[in-house]
Amino acid sequence: MGNRKAYIRIEGGEEIELPVLSGTMGADVIDIRNLGKHGLFTYDPGYVSTASCSSKITFIDGDEGVLLHRGYPIEQLAEHADFIEVCHLLYYGELPTMAQKQEFDFVIRHHTMVNDQVTSFFKGFRRDAHPMAVMVSVVGALSAFYQDSGDVTDPLHREISAHRLIAKVPTIAAMSFKYNTGMPFAYPKNSLSYAANFLHMMFSTPCEEYVPNPVMVRALDRIFILHADHEQNASTSTVRLAGSSGTNPFACIAAGIASLWGPAHGGANEAVLKMLEEIGDVAHIPKFIERAKDKKNPFRLMGFGHRVYKNFDPRANLMRQTCHKVLNELGAHDDRLFQIALELERIALEDKYFIEKKLYPNVDFYSGIVLRAIGIPTNMFTAIFAISRTIGWITQWDEMISDPEQKIGRPRQLFTGPEKRDFVPISLRE
Ligand code: SDX
Repeated sequence: MGNRKAYIRIEGGEEIELPVLSGTMGADVIDIRNLGKHGLFTYDPGYVSTASCSSKITFIDGDEGVLLHRGYPIEQLAEHADFIEVCHLLYYGELPTMAQKQEFDFVIRHHTMVNDQVTSFFKGFRRDAHPMAVMVSVVGALSAFYQDSGDVTDPLHREISAHRLIAKVPTIAAMSFKYNTGMPFAYPKNSLSYAANFLHMMFSTPCEEYVPNPVMVRALDRIFILHADHEQNASTSTVRLAGSSGTNPFACIAAGIASLWGPAHGGANEAVLKMLEEIGDVAHIPKFIERAKDKKNPFRLMGFGHRVYKNFDPRANLMRQTCHKVLNELGAHDDRLFQIALELERIALEDKYFIEKKLYPNVDFYSGIVLRAIGIPTNMFTAIFAISRTIGWITQWDEMISDPEQKIGRPRQLFTGPEKRDFVPISLRE
């Protein structure tokens, strides 16, 4: 980890020497773990400059637009792998051999059903319940069904929980869509691939055979790959913090789903579609660009900007390609919203405000258009993101639990409230 040092000297105080740690790639970090002994904390709302852990899973270089999963570039994984291979790579650290892939795929396919008791949870919801509200609840409730794998310190218990979550989250997501529509739940089919099975559970009915379109299957599988993991984003950090108390993985993933739901995070793809619908016509784009630049206006260009990427989000490029492919396949290349999206991207990338603030399209900018073209309703977009990110969450959770340095997460604060004062009886209060 290197032996360079950093020095902090508070005016009139001592000089504090701190180790500087280097990883395999990326920024060095100042190890501040002993800063508290000097009566000092660091202050970093939103953890803009704070590394919460060390990790071997995903590397992002925001300036260069690089995203690696266990060292493999996202462009190569999106081109040559399928989602099951990426799941194996993330969780076990290596791309599977043919035999390993067949075994892993078999295990996941044979965990896709949920206990039939789970279906009763849905009945408590109104039919118009948002799928993310259902998923937060039902995924968390799974913890009541698996007493046989409750020891988070046992790697085998962690592995079976990972298999169950990777396999069952799509089933629960599809059930929440069916419940919204009043259609009967569709059981998973073990003969189908991960993405094809999800489309089957979403769109098949008891009345006729449903054959998923292979172009849609490949597009959805690529969407799953592109959203699988993204180092210490808000929802992953939520999963890690929840898991640091030793709670069960189902509750941790439910916490991750809750965080992902926000429009600043995973909810952005749904918000992008709503924004494109609101823009309605390329002629209205300049007005929305001005709103997004107006500090007094809370409106933001959804699908633009990123905490880490200050260059193109490599996933957005790949998603744009998928968009072209799917819309060409459907003969819908002149899709109105897609045209608005392309023109919005062109104008924004030429605008000084977006250039100066390095606001580029992120993964959510195009994913909504692809999902809409596949026939997925807007309120399911973030649920799709949650399906994909489950492998990232559970892998990061597993790494955190097995990290010898890990301890319960407990940030400190800068207190700005009232100083000590005595209680005032109500009779004396004005
Ligand atoms: C995801 O972390 C991850 O890795 C997340 C994710 C993942 O895979 O897990 O990549 C998935 O969440 C992608 C992001 C999806 N969210 C959106 O598209 C929502 C719109 N984007 C923003 O709200 C914003 O860009 C964030 C939340 C993504 C990033 O916010 P930051 O890093 O806290 O940056 P900021 O809000 O401080 O913005 C910096 C400046 C500000 O202006 P100043 O105060 O410096 O003058 O840029 C402006 C912001 O006002 N700005 C925007 C903008 N995004 C930032 N202005 C207009 N439109 C935008 N979209």
